[in-house]
Amino acid sequence: MKKFFIAIMLVLVPVVASANTGGVHLDKMSPDPTNKESLQRGMKTFVNYCMGCHSANYQRYERAATDLGIPNELVQQNLIFGDSKVGEQMTIAMPKADAAAWFGNPPPDLTLETRLRGEDWVYTYLRSFYKDPARPWGVNNVVFPDVGMPNILEGLQGLQVNHCTKEEMAHHEKTIDPLTGLEMGGCLSVAEKGSLSEEEFDKTIYDLVNFMSYMGNPVKLESQAIGYKVLIFLFIFFFFAYALKKEYWKDVH
Ligand code: HEC
Repeated sequence: MKKFFIAIMLVLVPVVASANTGGVHLDKMSPDPTNKESLQRGMKTFVNYCMGCHSANYQRYERAATDLGIPNELVQQNLIFGDSKVGEQMTIAMPKADAAAWFGNPPPDLTLETRLRGEDWVYTYLRSFYKDPARPWGVNNVVFPDVGMPNILEGLQGLQVNHCTKEEMAHHEKTIDPLTGLEMGGCLSVAEKGSLSEEEFDKTIYDLVNFMSYMGNPVKLESQAIGYKVLIFLFIFFFFAYALKKEYWKDVH
């Protein structure tokens, strides 16, 4: 019996998966698959800004359109560049070998990126480019040092500068001053303004990562709904099973 209880306890301990971030602080974002407007905005940003280089080979436009509540014709007219059809996967034409020569590393497929790195990592990564003239594209990244990707969203965010050393960067988090309620610390600040304010940019990236999170697990809502139904079934079934057990055991002493 004791072993049984220990086994139950172990099952109940939640298993926390933690990605290796090299010790850098990650900003939190919690995806919301029920927020269709956010997912739609995210898809628009993804198609416009990311699919020049990155594919999402395991996602079909049509499935995304259905799940996000966008009519197929609108997707075909506004979100598909080139001659792909709405029933096809979100592929790109850039050859891998050329891309590797241009960027050092080829841009990976992003369908499952949030499953690989976690939403927090992607959310922080896309907001953590900073000016570094030593790098080929003039930018570096706090969570992905010496990254081969240019800062594609610089026009929106502006150009950030980093005023920390490498060691400081690992531990330098933004915190809220309890007295004034203002943000303190942080290594990065915008030196040349982009077209969006900081909040607007963060929201754009939230929507984008929300969409990427949807791509990584498009059946999340469905599985949650089924999960609830199964739990309700088990709860009701318990009473029948218990009554049956009583019936079977009533003559055994
Ligand atoms: C001009 C081409 C280009 C565009 C456009 C681009 N990227 Fe990238 N991206 C790259 C390259 C190249 C890499 C690989 C960098 C490396 O490994 O050093 C990369 C890497 C990444 C990674 C890290 C992958 C990993 O886990 O190793 C993420 C996440 C990412 N890109 C997201 C995006 C998103 C989101 C967009 C759209 C807002 C975008 N990228 C637009 C070229 C691009």
